Amino acid sequence: MTTFGIHDIELVTTHHALDLAELARARGVDPAKFEIGLGQTRMSVPAPDEDAVTMGATAALRVLERHGSDRLRSLLFATESGVDQSKSGGMFVHGLLGLPPQMRVMEFKQACYAGTAALQAAIAAVARDPGAEVLVVISDVAKYELDSSGEPTQGAAAVAMLVKADPALVEIEPETGMFSAEVDDFWRPNDSTTARVDGALSLKAYLDALIGSWDDYAARGGRAIEEIDRFLYHQPFTKMAVKGHQRLGRHTGADLTAEQLETSRTYNRVLGNSYGASIYAALASLLHHEDGLEGKRIGFYSYGSGSVGEYFTGVVRPGYREHLHPEPIQSDLAARPSISFDEYVALHETVLSSAEDVETPRVTGAPFRFAGIRGGARQYERNA
Ligand code: COA
Repeated sequence: MTTFGIHDIELVTTHHALDLAELARARGVDPAKFEIGLGQTRMSVPAPDEDAVTMGATAALRVLERHGSDRLRSLLFATESGVDQSKSGGMFVHGLLGLPPQMRVMEFKQACYAGTAALQAAIAAVARDPGAEVLVVISDVAKYELDSSGEPTQGAAAVAMLVKADPALVEIEPETGMFSAEVDDFWRPNDSTTARVDGALSLKAYLDALIGSWDDYAARGGRAIEEIDRFLYHQPFTKMAVKGHQRLGRHTGADLTAEQLETSRTYNRVLGNSYGASIYAALASLLHHEDGLEGKRIGFYSYGSGSVGEYFTGVVRPGYREHLHPEPIQSDLAARPSISFDEYVALHETVLSSAEDVETPRVTGAPFRFAGIRGGARQYERNA
């Protein structure tokens, strides 16, 4: 039987990062609250010439350099931090990568859930046309108000995944459980660059949707929890995955262990929140840090405030390790300079208006950069 799923994956983040110990010092908070209470040590901070498009284009470039674009029929771009109210961030990526015109490009939005919506749409598209490939790009900059409760849970990252028949990494299984409920736990008004959040309500909504989507998954013929070997969760901060795992264990009565999700938290601890990309950053972390996963079943819990939850599973393919490329993200993370608290605040407060032409300073060393605004339109370019 033909299988469908993830053939390749790349994770990309920003040029620099803020150490959460530095944020704790500046805010007069015990650093253990961030490191132990939230499970975070650093958070990615975009340079002035980086955004969701530049990170997404870099991740997509790394995937397409290996596979080409001959069979590519769709580019699905998922983001909460879109750069335009109308034009898809995917169109900028399409242009930067010089992709063929004979393809579909669009943007998906539903807070942190959008990447899973794009992945499921990609699976459906390749199931209908098994010779085709779909590029899913999930890219977000998580930004809250300065000195707000959400401040230590900011961050940024992009994941690009090539979806096709007979995938090399993870086969996505057809059973899926869904749960949607209208709730004001997190949102970002059209005139705001920062998200608003009711922290306590967002935790409750996340856990309610976990149980709701799990129950739907189970009712629709999903696997027994004992058949799932590793567990991935949407990770706005990595302690949230632990909370979700404990809650699922209590709900199902299963003896779930911390080891079942430990390796999936490694990258997210130093990226911070990456909204839609976070669960797929967790997937990259799991695959990069564990041997012997062939044939193992992974449970995915994807959540997006507002709110939508989805539970589904995938099975790791034989020989997956030969198709992984951990070097770029691991060397990028090791090389990232830490910025000071004052530099972080200055970057946070810089908001560009489309009413003025501006050129951004040249900072990022990534293949693509946001060059500025001209005539109200965002300008992107290949880095020299
Ligand atoms: N040492 C160790 N742990 C400490 C600590 C210390 N000195 N001080 C506090 N903590 C722990 C708390 O016990 C708590 O852990 P617990 O929830 O397991 O009990 C954790 O650190 C956070 O403390 P809390 O007082 O709840 O933090 P907060 O009120 O500042 O807000 C969030 C935490 C997550 C609600 C906030 O960061 C937020 O709004 N984030 C954005 C929304 C979000 O990510 N939602 C998730 C669902 S999508």
